[in-house]
Amino acid sequence: MRAIAISAFGARPELVELPEPTPGPGELLVRLRAAAYNPIDTKIASGAVKGLQPRFPLVMGQDGAGVVEAVGDEVTAYRPGDEVYGRFADPARGLGSYAEYAVVAQDGPVARTPKGLLPAQAAAVPTASATACALLDAAGLAEGQTVLIVGATGGVGQAAAQLAALRRAYVIATAAPDAEELMRELGANETVDHTKGDVPGQVRAAWPDGVDAVFDLVTPSGEVDAMAGVLRPGGVICSVVHALDPDALARRGLRGVNVINRVAPDVLTRLAELIDGGELRVRVESLVPLERAPAVLGDIAASHARGKTVITI
Ligand SMILES: NC(=O)c1ccc[n+]([C@@H]2O[C@H](COP(=O)([O-])OP(=O)(O)OC[C@H]3O[C@@H](n4cnc5c(N)ncnc54)[C@H](OP(=O)(O)O)[C@@H]3O)[C@@H](O)[C@H]2O)c1
Repeated sequence: MRAIAISAFGARPELVELPEPTPGPGELLVRLRAAAYNPIDTKIASGAVKGLQPRFPLVMGQDGAGVVEAVGDEVTAYRPGDEVYGRFADPARGLGSYAEYAVVAQDGPVARTPKGLLPAQAAAVPTASATACALLDAAGLAEGQTVLIVGATGGVGQAAAQLAALRRAYVIATAAPDAEELMRELGANETVDHTKGDVPGQVRAAWPDGVDAVFDLVTPSGEVDAMAGVLRPGGVICSVVHALDPDALARRGLRGVNVINRVAPDVLTRLAELIDGGELRVRVESLVPLERAPAVLGDIAASHARGKTVITI
């Protein structure tokens, strides 16, 4: 099968020919039609994710969508021909989603593709939208509360803004001028231009009593304390880049949660329902054919995301 793989941490991703994987008991062999880029893909490839001991060559990528090609023994939940989407990374076997084939356990991070979604759209959903769900849950965001989303214009942020608006929260989204209209279409009530600098100062000026919650998708640990300064007493800040010291925040009378997403069948099925119901939109910003991916991955990682980049297979 054709795949984009690395031969070692830090090596250049390459288009390679690899053996097609075989599904074990309880596993599905999926013919992938699309894979989505997530920032974690390049972090893993660089070796920045501690404790990961993959088999090389390691196929890059997590998220994907395609069709069940074959099933292993004891599979009862799916049949060949079923359209599925989810997370298809198995680094211990050198497998990932930037490939023609992947395997996933039938009770693993996989579900039926939302109705009417093309594989390229479905592949864009799992990690970003599941992370947005995890943020809302961690914060316990409730109707009428105010939430600042920092890094709102990317994959996670767009989903978080929509889900927060669906919960009838008041959404303040960071957005460069080119993305203000997009964020309002996705449910933001107001935007803050982070390219002008001092986001905490801008938000405090508009909300002197503080906001109820912050979803921070980008601010590193050295700077996140200032972001927490926009919260009202007792407010909650959630970081997806593990920037928070919850004990230090508790001493300031604030709650801090370093959020790790959970991509599981129940979450994927819930997301599929929201998409089918027209309540969650996932914006695919660009499509890249598999063979072009090695040449453009660096540019994608450095780009100002306004949606998801999807690799077509
Ligand atoms: N913990 C978890 O489970 C988990 C799960 C998923 C993702 N993540 C992490 O979450 C982060 C975001 O992921 P993503 O998929 O949403 O990334 P993405 O699609 O690349 O989007 C990042 C967005 O952040 C904006 N941005 C960058 N710097 C900013 C700043 N200082 N202030 C405001 N906005 C800023 C960018 O727009 P501009 O360039 O215009 O500023 C871009 O739209 C990544 O680091 C990823 O690894 C963690």
